[in-house]
Amino acid sequence: MPSPIDATQTPAWHKLTDIHNNLTVDFRAWFEQDAERTEKFSLSAGDLFVDLSKSVMTDEMKTALEELAAEVNLAERRDAMFSGERINITENRSVLHSALRRPKTDSLTVEGQDVVGDVHSVLERVYAFANKVRSGQWKGITGKTIKTVVNIGIGGSDLGPVMAYEALKPFKAENIECRFISNIDPTDAGEKLSGLDPETTLFIVASKTFTTLETLTNARIARAWLLRSLEEQGAPTDGAVAKHFVAVSTALDKVAEFGIDPENAFGFWNWVGGRYSVDSAVGTSLAIAIGPDNFADFLAGFNKMDEHFQNTPFSRNVPVLMGMLNVFYVNFMNAATHAVLPYSQFLHRFPAYLQQLTMESNGKRVRWDGTPVTSKTGEVFWGEPGTNGQHAFYQLIHQGTQLIPADFIAFANPTYAFKDGDADQHELFLGNFFGQTKALAFGKTADEVRAEGTPEEIVSARVFEGNKPTASIMAPELTPSVLGQLIALYEHITFVQGIVWGIDSFDQWGVELGKQMAKALTNAVSGDKAALAAEDQSTRALIEYYRAHRTK
Ligand code: F6P
Repeated sequence: MPSPIDATQTPAWHKLTDIHNNLTVDFRAWFEQDAERTEKFSLSAGDLFVDLSKSVMTDEMKTALEELAAEVNLAERRDAMFSGERINITENRSVLHSALRRPKTDSLTVEGQDVVGDVHSVLERVYAFANKVRSGQWKGITGKTIKTVVNIGIGGSDLGPVMAYEALKPFKAENIECRFISNIDPTDAGEKLSGLDPETTLFIVASKTFTTLETLTNARIARAWLLRSLEEQGAPTDGAVAKHFVAVSTALDKVAEFGIDPENAFGFWNWVGGRYSVDSAVGTSLAIAIGPDNFADFLAGFNKMDEHFQNTPFSRNVPVLMGMLNVFYVNFMNAATHAVLPYSQFLHRFPAYLQQLTMESNGKRVRWDGTPVTSKTGEVFWGEPGTNGQHAFYQLIHQGTQLIPADFIAFANPTYAFKDGDADQHELFLGNFFGQTKALAFGKTADEVRAEGTPEEIVSARVFEGNKPTASIMAPELTPSVLGQLIALYEHITFVQGIVWGIDSFDQWGVELGKQMAKALTNAVSGDKAALAAEDQSTRALIEYYRAHRTK
């Protein structure tokens, strides 16, 4: 692996610094002066139409961003990732989530291993299993068919499956419901197990490592619940785990130790990062819910975006331009956060999913060779669906003092076609999407506020500065393929930013210390006096509070 290039020392960075120093963001002027602005800065990738004309973008800046991408060797690094080089330096691993969605007819051999062949042999097993559950051929211990699938996992083994399940509800089989247990908070298992019939419930324990405390604890709790509940119903328990538990993991030996039949385990590989794994066997709950054909469309969507990322010149490459633009916002315009605002209730977990994808990937302070980063990295991603967000936090985006670039996502076709009198509800909804991006870009001047007859003393409070950058992403409809395209778009945006910053976007050492401490505190929490005395004063006080107040 070559040493990271210090982006801040490149000619393009210096050029961008000059551009930024002389830049006045003025969307009104930019649009007035250039009738072709939208045409010029609109792009397409697969089924996505992406309008960057309300982003901070000028011809000069776009060229300089493309130059910066070239000067940090983005194309070479991208090709290294797609070909299976070990670009995850600190874990000495390839990064091949793109191989999970390659068609069967493709071939990719990495270090002597037929990766595409391996992927499709697991996929076929997942599909066969999904078909059995969906058709009722897979029976529980008492011969009943499965009605509820409970995925037990956390982080990448939860966020992707739950987000995609919620997003693709219209494609789900009517006779099957999924639930997701992730948190070690007993509330999660308690609530999700509540009302379930053990005879018709199937658990999928999803964990890449099969060592994650939350997941293994919840899996044991679910197993105990299953056996106890079957017994209470007078049902047999012998062999019940084999009929009601399957697993997804890269550690199949640990799956067997847990007591799950290796026949019922679906593998994946250490070259798939947890947050990049929804399109591996980690998506088994989704494959059951939406069926193999829809799951295959989902994968084909990812692949479409992969091909766009690999084969489109930087000047029209959506993940490259959006990623480079994010770098400009963070490093030149000082943006600390980035909002993702889907105008689709189905995407209500998409921002949460993106938080792990982007922040676990790019929240790093050293580069892939261990040296300190040379610029800020890793903005905070956050968001909620519109229009709910409009009534909560948009105030700060419109009139606050922080720059918050925002991605707006919407679909031309609704799933539900309601009318309110003559009004089409989806059009009322989309009116908000169009209106918000317009208001953010163009604002409202003091004169415009006055012209509405506003009393002078409150004019300034009602002024909208405008010039708040947004990217608008639209597609005909939220289908499995379009969801795959959207996810892959953000995966590649994240990659592009990581390359500019010279960081390993595929490790996550920052999550380890807290985990170790939680384990080490077990004795103190359960009342061991010596262990408690050895704690720092704040931690000791918190544990003492807990011990004094725990009454049930
Ligand atoms: O602690 C963070 C993390 O390692 C994530 O990267 C991962 O997605 C999650 O935990 C769950 O890990 P696993 O799939 O191994 O249970």
